[in-house]
Amino acid sequence: MDFQLTEEQRLVRDMARDFAQNELLPRARKHDEQGRIDPEVFQMIAELGLWGLTIGEEYGGAGLGNLELSLVLEEINAACAATGVTLSVHNSLLGAPIKRFGTKEQMQKYLPGLASGETIGCYCLTEPNAGSDAAALVTTAKKDGDEWVLDGTKVWVTNGGIAKLAIVYARTNQEVSKAKGISAFLVPLDTPGVKIGKTEKKTGIRGSSTTEILFEGVRLPADALLGEENKGFMIAMDTLDGGRIGIASQSIGIGRACLEASVRYAKEREQFGRPIGDFQAIQWKIADMSTRIDAARLLTHRAALIRDAGDRVSEAAAKAKLFASQSANFAADECLQIHGGAGYTDDFEVERLFRDARITEIYEGATDIQRIVIARSVMA
Ligand code: CAA
Repeated sequence: MDFQLTEEQRLVRDMARDFAQNELLPRARKHDEQGRIDPEVFQMIAELGLWGLTIGEEYGGAGLGNLELSLVLEEINAACAATGVTLSVHNSLLGAPIKRFGTKEQMQKYLPGLASGETIGCYCLTEPNAGSDAAALVTTAKKDGDEWVLDGTKVWVTNGGIAKLAIVYARTNQEVSKAKGISAFLVPLDTPGVKIGKTEKKTGIRGSSTTEILFEGVRLPADALLGEENKGFMIAMDTLDGGRIGIASQSIGIGRACLEASVRYAKEREQFGRPIGDFQAIQWKIADMSTRIDAARLLTHRAALIRDAGDRVSEAAAKAKLFASQSANFAADECLQIHGGAGYTDDFEVERLFRDARITEIYEGATDIQRIVIARSVMA
């Protein structure tokens, strides 16, 4: 077992760290306040090749794996979690399933645009009455001659307001049990009948775009189908296995930012005539935060390597996401406590980190869902 990064992995991580610390961190508060990411950030991400990090070189991507993506996402999220989730969803929830399940034609049609960032991607699974119970979705795709006609409403779509291409899950067979009658479709969002609905006002990651998307009589060609008909739920779940490694990486980044902010504050804030970092009560918090973040990183890198090796990663990804998201929230809570009243104001970064951390235990499968995935696998 090798815990050392390769020279290339270190270079990729350091490049992402420089970008995150120099360009994203100074903008993170602004992104949060204005509810959107600065357009020049999208351009910078494109210039660094991060939109297509895991897309093959033959399609204009960097051809790297999930471990490199995790390293990059940790850095980006340590500076700006809104940018982090935008990039994670684009790479893991749209680029990855096209790469894993697409035909050559679909890859040629879509991957170059996704790799360059010309096309931002989003993932449409959740519906008003199908959240944790994703297979309960009621959006339909009905055959009409050679075409499909898509009708339904998707909610909580990350990147909904900025994406040009969506993967949409819809029911194509009403006769079979719920998970077996779902198919996946690639839908350009300028197709007639697509409407971007309400934009959510969120507690955290406010710079990222989260919207409803409505599909009303949207006509799609036969080749919009991704993978086999009625096998879409498996694609949705396989895709989330990868996405959960991305959210675990986001959690590590947020947790690390909390740890670093805590150490800084503990050294400069004085009470009882000395820096509060001299007190064991503060040191133990810092020790526990650091230990959990390290453990989360090990679980996450292991999951990334399993995925890169081509093996089923459901259990390992769920464990990484479960533990990393809880660690991020633990670190955010302790960081705020160390800052005291000051941390409860927006004078300090921890106020935003605390809000940003919370979503990691909710999206791409809530904490309880990760436990279901883990327990089913362990007990099988
Ligand atoms: N890979 C491949 N196939 C899988 C799979 C996986 N990871 N997980 C399940 N399957 C297959 C199963 O083998 C089964 O197939 P068979 O019937 O042929 O055996 C089929 O899919 C159905 O699986 P389940 O019986 O396990 O389905 P379920 O209805 O019990 O659901 C669940 C399981 C884990 C609860 C699932 O519904 C789930 O993950 N829910 C959470 C949904 C979620 O994470 N949503 C996130 C939305 S996206 C988002 O948040 C993005 C964002 O904004 C950032």
